[in-house]
Amino acid sequence: MMDRGKSAIGVFDSGVGGVSVLKALQRALPNESFIYVADSANAPYGDKSTAFIEGRTSATASFLVASHAKAIVVACNTATVVAVQALRAHYSIPVIAMEPAIKPAVQLTRSGVVGVLATERTLESPALAALCRRFGETVEVIPQPCPGLVEAVERGEMDAEATAQLLRRYVEPLLAKGADTLVLGCTHYVNLSDQIQRIAGPGITIVESSAAVARQLERRLAETGNLSDGMSNAETRFFTTGRADQVQPVISALWGATVHVQAIEAPDARTVA
Ligand code: DGL
Repeated sequence: MMDRGKSAIGVFDSGVGGVSVLKALQRALPNESFIYVADSANAPYGDKSTAFIEGRTSATASFLVASHAKAIVVACNTATVVAVQALRAHYSIPVIAMEPAIKPAVQLTRSGVVGVLATERTLESPALAALCRRFGETVEVIPQPCPGLVEAVERGEMDAEATAQLLRRYVEPLLAKGADTLVLGCTHYVNLSDQIQRIAGPGITIVESSAAVARQLERRLAETGNLSDGMSNAETRFFTTGRADQVQPVISALWGATVHVQAIEAPDARTVA
């Protein structure tokens, strides 16, 4: 029987954005091995249909489970709001997912105004509305969709002037409305935290949930007796459904070291119910 303490944790996103989450997971759990899948051939998910996102999420999860993943981290807010319930219903291994950091933002704001940067699908989701009802009743929460940002990160243009212009267009109106706390509700945007902080200025607090996701993953692995015993070499492997030669430099830049990225064929969504 496979020793789950020795198998890897599967992490996926519509593309390279979830590398921001993977960094937090690896920092918190250095003895664990990870398999990251960037569904770059299909990014962004934000403008796709529910059926399409469900199909992709299910197919990627099935690839990870076939690769002996002992847990799955959905490192994508958009895939979370669309498809996490179906994944949890289908798999018995822990499925950890994103939750925009509304709760800490509400605790941190002094102006009482919080801006949430996320994809349109995340901002319109019942899951976000429920979070705002639960934690955000006492503050003003301003949603800010950011078209073009996911694509900019996918192209590796984190420091391009065009990306800075987009960021200014999305961040400045929130500041003008009095926001002193910004929630990054899309894992791609977390890779632009430094650029966003520069535009917003030092008085603005940026919050995101990757450290909370890492804590949740650790808790679930401990509960189910699946934490690594640290006896085998931990490794992190990267896969993409896109072109490895294009995705590799972008993931390496985000990860902070040169990594090998292997191309996989987009797993067939129809093989999973
Ligand atoms: N990283 C995804 C998220 O967190 C990007 C969504 C997309 O592909 O549109 O929402």
